[in-house]
Amino acid sequence: MSNRTRRKLLVANWKMHFLRASALDYLKVFRERVRAVMKTEIVLAPPFTLLEAVGREIRETQIKLAAQDLFYENEGAFTGEISAAMLKDLGCAYVIVGHSERRRLFGETDELINKKLQAALEADLLPILCIGETLEERRAGRTQAVLETQLRRALEGLAPSEKHLIAYEPVWAIGTGVNAEPAQAQESARFIRERLRSFLGEERAQDVRILYGGSVRVSNLESFLQMPDIDGALVGGASLDPVSFAEMVQQTERMVPS
Ligand code: 13P
Repeated sequence: MSNRTRRKLLVANWKMHFLRASALDYLKVFRERVRAVMKTEIVLAPPFTLLEAVGREIRETQIKLAAQDLFYENEGAFTGEISAAMLKDLGCAYVIVGHSERRRLFGETDELINKKLQAALEADLLPILCIGETLEERRAGRTQAVLETQLRRALEGLAPSEKHLIAYEPVWAIGTGVNAEPAQAQESARFIRERLRSFLGEERAQDVRILYGGSVRVSNLESFLQMPDIDGALVGGASLDPVSFAEMVQQTERMVPS
């Protein structure tokens, strides 16, 4: 599969934002503006508390639902945790795994992320695995070593046929307004695909969609999507405005050949 045939995808990571009323207001504006979009895949990742309400509002549309995290056990005495089966039950198609905020603020390790990835796949959820280097690691010339380790450990034990997506999110670009240069993001995405080739084989590696995340805005999205190994974006701050996020979706749609 070439980059022209990997379907473009935009994911809104709402992180810890919105209450029911504000989420419904968002959807009123957003749904209308993306009604005609068919080629681009649109995914919304609200917090757990809004999955049901958002899921209900987008049920009859082409918009898909994602969760921002999951726990790896199916059920049991795990106070406060949410399983893959529970997410599936609410209509989720995707789940974000290993976001840098979870790694940094909640101590998630590659081993834990590997278990979460496996649990998502077992429940037939598509995991979006997030990887990325810190500024310190980049300055020390360790970007590729970090990406390689995060990728290898997260994917350990996975059958090459299992479907997942990778989000390259350099930690220093998240929520800072300082996006990676498109060429830098492409260099990492190309490296990730090359590593996937050795883990999964040529055919599967060509198939895996790689997203860029980190200060993506209306004004820079297109420059990332033009890169041959970047198939979409994982958008935080700029996805909180339904007009901006809809504009990004429309931009993407215009770039997809019919
Ligand atoms: P920002 O778009 O706010 O930089 O966040 C990126 C991100 O973390 C998406 O998961």
